Amino acid sequence: MSSVLDVSGLVKHFPIAGQRAVVQAVNDISFHVKKGETLSLVGESGSGKTTVGRCVLGLIQQTAGVIDFQGETIGKRRNVRSRDLRGKMALVFQEPAESLDPRVRVADTIGEPLRSRGVSRENRRRRIAEIAKRVGLSDATLDQFPAELSAGQQQRVGIARAIVTDPELIVLDEPTSALDPTARAEIIDLLIRLQKEFDTAYLFISHDLSTVRYLSHRVAVMYLGMIVEQGTANEIFSNPRHPYSVGLLSSVLLPNPKLKREVSVDLTGEIPSPIDLPKGCYLAGRCPFATDQCHKEMPPIEDLGNGHLVQCHHFREALKGHEALDYFDEFQAQTEQLLEAGRRSTGTVAGQTK
Ligand SMILES: Nc1ncnc2c1ncn2[C@@H]1O[C@H](COP(=O)(O)OP(=O)(O)OP(=O)(O)O)[C@@H](O)[C@H]1O
Ligand code: SF4
Ligand SMILES: [Mg+2]
Repeated sequence: MSSVLDVSGLVKHFPIAGQRAVVQAVNDISFHVKKGETLSLVGESGSGKTTVGRCVLGLIQQTAGVIDFQGETIGKRRNVRSRDLRGKMALVFQEPAESLDPRVRVADTIGEPLRSRGVSRENRRRRIAEIAKRVGLSDATLDQFPAELSAGQQQRVGIARAIVTDPELIVLDEPTSALDPTARAEIIDLLIRLQKEFDTAYLFISHDLSTVRYLSHRVAVMYLGMIVEQGTANEIFSNPRHPYSVGLLSSVLLPNPKLKREVSVDLTGEIPSPIDLPKGCYLAGRCPFATDQCHKEMPPIEDLGNGHLVQCHHFREALKGHEALDYFDEFQAQTEQLLEAGRRSTGTVAGQTK
């Protein structure tokens, strides 16, 4: 599988008005997404996930680093609306209602990317009808306005608009977090089905780890603008090696309280400010395994094989005893429950790791 997106050494710093200091939102990260693959970015609020998505789409200019899309470097002034890239990358937002113009009918919303590419009215009409069917929107819905639809239907419209040009890459920024559990399950199943049909690459941004487990082929864990661990979804959920990844997984309410207690890594302490990051490992002030070395030196990225990368001085010894604990089973069980309703209504059974 070839890479659709290759990001290398990405840095994004935001200037602060009237100050020399900057917000260090993204700090030298590298990752790739292959054709037909989902890479999820997870991490606490403020870890830089959305900023990465915006840099990739060219909505903001990176401070440093190289972004290659389909083998070509995206130039400085190029963005998602540039002629070369238009229609090849798309974005699905968190709040479906806010991302849709209330005065524009559904059909015109879905067809807008085609119109801006100069597709004729007749061809647009045909394509809109075809895509609406694919995402499960009825013909009647096409004449309606966004306010007349449920949140789940609105998100289907957002997804239809994103896929109407058959893009190579879709950035999905928390696309299910504003939805109720049934609508969420339906949208997850829809996204998986569409990816299989069109072979689209997804950069999926989410706090919801059970959704991430279900949807992802690979996962990158972000903390203060760095990717501290990345690997296959199986590896990250069943064999996490970074204390922050384990902390993140432990913080999720698992159905079995005994399991939760045994596996927890409690990340107490303040998150450092992205304006004034510490010298060594950014987690040192919160990590139960921190040593002097952690406070002084930034850990190197270690390659554990099969694309599993971890950035921690003590990844070998710190998490001994955690190996046998399988988060994967717990998340899978949770997600199965969550998706049951969605499957019943869509008649599909999906999941990236089956
Ligand atoms: N335009 C901006 N100007 C200044 N700082 C910004 C800007 N956009 C984001 N930041 C800062 O960059 C950091 C990363 O923000 P970002 O929105 O990418 O995080 P996130 O991981 O998407 O968080 P969340 O999960 O809450 O959506 C934060 O410290 C944020 O305050
Ligand atoms: S490098 Fe040290 S402080 Fe950082 S995560 Fe590893 S053990 Fe914790
Ligand atoms: Mg965000």
